[in-house]
Amino acid sequence: MKNILVTGGLGFIGSHTVVELCKNDYHVVIIDNLSNSSIDVLDKLKKITKKEIAFYEDDVCNKEALKKIFKKEKIDAVIHFAGFKAVGESVEKPLKYYRNNLDSTISLLEVMDEYACFNLIFSSSATVYGKPKSLPIKEDFPLSTTNPYGTTKLFIEHILEDLYTSNNKWNITILRYFNPIGADKSGLIGENPKDIPNNLMPYILKVVTKELPVLRIFGDDYDTVDGTGVRDYIHVSDLAYGHVLALKNKKEGLKIYNLGTGHGTSVLELVKTFEKVNNVKVNKEITKRRPGDIDACFASCDKAFKELGFKAKYDVEEMCLDAYNFIKKNTN
Ligand code: UFG
Repeated sequence: MKNILVTGGLGFIGSHTVVELCKNDYHVVIIDNLSNSSIDVLDKLKKITKKEIAFYEDDVCNKEALKKIFKKEKIDAVIHFAGFKAVGESVEKPLKYYRNNLDSTISLLEVMDEYACFNLIFSSSATVYGKPKSLPIKEDFPLSTTNPYGTTKLFIEHILEDLYTSNNKWNITILRYFNPIGADKSGLIGENPKDIPNNLMPYILKVVTKELPVLRIFGDDYDTVDGTGVRDYIHVSDLAYGHVLALKNKKEGLKIYNLGTGHGTSVLELVKTFEKVNNVKVNKEITKRRPGDIDACFASCDKAFKELGFKAKYDVEEMCLDAYNFIKKNTN
């Protein structure tokens, strides 16, 4: 497998995965419609990797565009990131989420089938575990969702299972991500949403750069070490490397892996670590719980370690350093 199509390759996780793919001598072809990414990222990727990267500004829902790419680029495998991902927006506009995330995936699968490309890695999320009955979360835990975004991820997982049952030529890896943060060591790429961020780390960064006044910590009465929510933060470059391991995996068929670190960190612990390693203050206040949030969520990483050899290298300190390094280099 040499030629890898990366859908959504200019987004946060997609762009970091492109870096890891290039480092491992894959030839990368990106399709991205720039709906939540910027074309500047492409130049930055070329600068970091010093490799040729083919780019198509197109929508994955557009089958004709996809066919042209498959005809021209001889794609061996696809890593599918493209999709809408804002939890809150998905509650307000469910049809937008179902239409886009499902349509794009079905179009992609149909075109892959037509061009006899049966290797797929799908970007799923720990959100499919809903409120887990115990911790750490294993891949065979029951699945449920609390918002339409999460439901699109779960529906797509079901579609992929049915597809594999229909034709076991398919070689599919579902990766369930925990909470990716941090940024490439170069500081050239990272996560810097245009709108008000939904997620914790981009929000912290906007408070530190004074674009937003204060970090609201959503609840301090959870059943956790200090009452604030606990999550499994993973450095985005570690997560990205997980995709390389998934491509190299000898095991065929339909496989599902958690990608996390196995460690839980509370909101307050993350904020304190950020302040300490970067020597800055984060203006913060405790507010009420955010609807739909759970107390704690962290991964069992045993399966990914056993079958892929996956183990996260970076700790939360490194994640905080790299996130701040990126934002310092990319704001005035
Ligand atoms: N939080 C705050 N203030 C903020 C933002 C977040 O206190 O401004 C807290 C949350 O309450 C939670 C923690 O920080 O306790 C992490 O919240 P994020 O929004 O960063 O991440 P979530 O775990 O809620 O959700 C993320 C992704 C989802 C994905 C899920 C998988 O946003 O897409 O992880 O577990 F599905």
